[in-house]
Amino acid sequence: MNADFGKRLVIISNRLPFSIEKKQGKWETTPGSGGLVTALAPVLRDRGGLWIGWLGTDSSGDMTGYVQAAEKNAGFSMLPVILSRDEIDLYYRGLSNEVIWPLFHDMPSYCRFELRYWDAYLDVNARFASVIYKNTTADDFIWVHDYHLICVGSELRKLGLKNRVGFFLHIPFPSLDIFIKLPWRSEFLRALLDYDLIGFQTIRDRRNFIQCIRQFLKGASVHGKGQVVSVEFEGREIRLGYFPISIDYGEFSRLAKRKQVADAAWYIHEDIPDRKIVLGVDRLDYSKGILNRMKAFGRLLDKYPDLIRKITLFQVIVPSRRNIPVYENLKIEIERLVGEINGKYTRSGWIPIHYIFGSLSQTDLLARYRSSEIALVTPLKDGMNLVAKEYCASSVEQTGVLILSEFAGAAAQLQRGALLVNPYNIEEIADAIHRAFRMTEKEMKVRMSLMQRSIARQDIYWWVNSFLQAAISGNLDDFPHLEEYIPRMNIF
Ligand code: UDP
Ligand code: G6P
Repeated sequence: MNADFGKRLVIISNRLPFSIEKKQGKWETTPGSGGLVTALAPVLRDRGGLWIGWLGTDSSGDMTGYVQAAEKNAGFSMLPVILSRDEIDLYYRGLSNEVIWPLFHDMPSYCRFELRYWDAYLDVNARFASVIYKNTTADDFIWVHDYHLICVGSELRKLGLKNRVGFFLHIPFPSLDIFIKLPWRSEFLRALLDYDLIGFQTIRDRRNFIQCIRQFLKGASVHGKGQVVSVEFEGREIRLGYFPISIDYGEFSRLAKRKQVADAAWYIHEDIPDRKIVLGVDRLDYSKGILNRMKAFGRLLDKYPDLIRKITLFQVIVPSRRNIPVYENLKIEIERLVGEINGKYTRSGWIPIHYIFGSLSQTDLLARYRSSEIALVTPLKDGMNLVAKEYCASSVEQTGVLILSEFAGAAAQLQRGALLVNPYNIEEIADAIHRAFRMTEKEMKVRMSLMQRSIARQDIYWWVNSFLQAAISGNLDDFPHLEEYIPRMNIF
């Protein structure tokens, strides 16, 4: 191990916060999408540190220039892990996204339990562990993220690493009757218990995990109560906590107030005057409940025809995991449904659903949040859902209404301000949109300020400090700014 760096926060996730892709023969970098990147980037940006992850490509060409440019832009060091085409296929597409993702989102019928996926998963987790081992010092706090890297902790122990190692699961942890289906269930639980602290999004996720270890790991005993409890297992003590992830609230609300955003928001409404806008922003994913949401919008127009011409759904779908057939089929199904609803209800000068398949710039996204009277966040299951929190942070006038699935992790925190719905209940979502449409400004402001206060109090810095407190009795300020010696790393 290198011994020449100071105390650092080392973050490890499957992806680095940006990807490299070849487009029309030229390499291009694109910022990563998804809540993990949104949440973690400000943490390292403010403090420096190291982020280890995959570049999003199977190329083993020299990417040093791109990585250096991204490091300069981001304000922290990055160390890429190279994956072969087969590894991407079996570890990332296979075990991560055709087994763990659907199973942990309560959708076992989408799972393909293949042994070769599991073997590749272990190999890639061992590779990540070896990169971490070679590039960290005894002082570093190592923090592994998300479902792709569950076994990295145990691989690090096999290498003899003595540092404290934390793990945070960004997605839900399923209930016992779902988890039991996993062919490698005991191996997963044992691997998780090789970390020193395991963080979950909600108390429900932690409760599910505790039920699973009680069922499958003989001799594991759980002690304590509150936000952090401990498990004793084979002579070790492991902490289990719940830490609802958040956003950089101050930064979001500051950016949302900028003139550029205000102007862009004004133009959005100017384009469709006298109408309320309902906004959906999601990665292309079956867990997001996009089809039910669109059906509910169609049902709203059936049930409340007085809203025809007075309301528009603006749905943004950010491309994701398109090499997995179920995702590509979902895109086809969404586009069919948009066509069907628009075909049925469009009137001269009014189209019910505006649909964008692509990513928005930051200004555009904030302007959409700011200009939409209603946000529809209706996942069938979601670890947290940061779109819900970003919408609230961007509601400068406090007149936005959030309709939120009771199965999003965010519901635990935002239930007093949001209109909660069961995302499987089309009728209930339609009625909630109707209620939001009719809501008085006074009620909107009361609800929105409740949510804003809660997100501002428990923002991303609260989250990181709560985790570090539980892991190492420290906080972000204990990690010195490291700009003076951003190390040049080898690319693996
Ligand atoms: N987002 C993005 N590009 C866009 C629109 C949204 O990267 O064009 C971001 C959005 O700001 C949010 C994240 O994607 O931070 C989605 O996170 P969320 O927790 O809602 O869901 P996830 O994608 O992680 O399942
Ligand atoms: C969710 C996961 C992240 C993942 C992101 C984007 O937010 O929790 O770990 O990075 O989706 O998915 P992708 O497969 O493109 O990395």
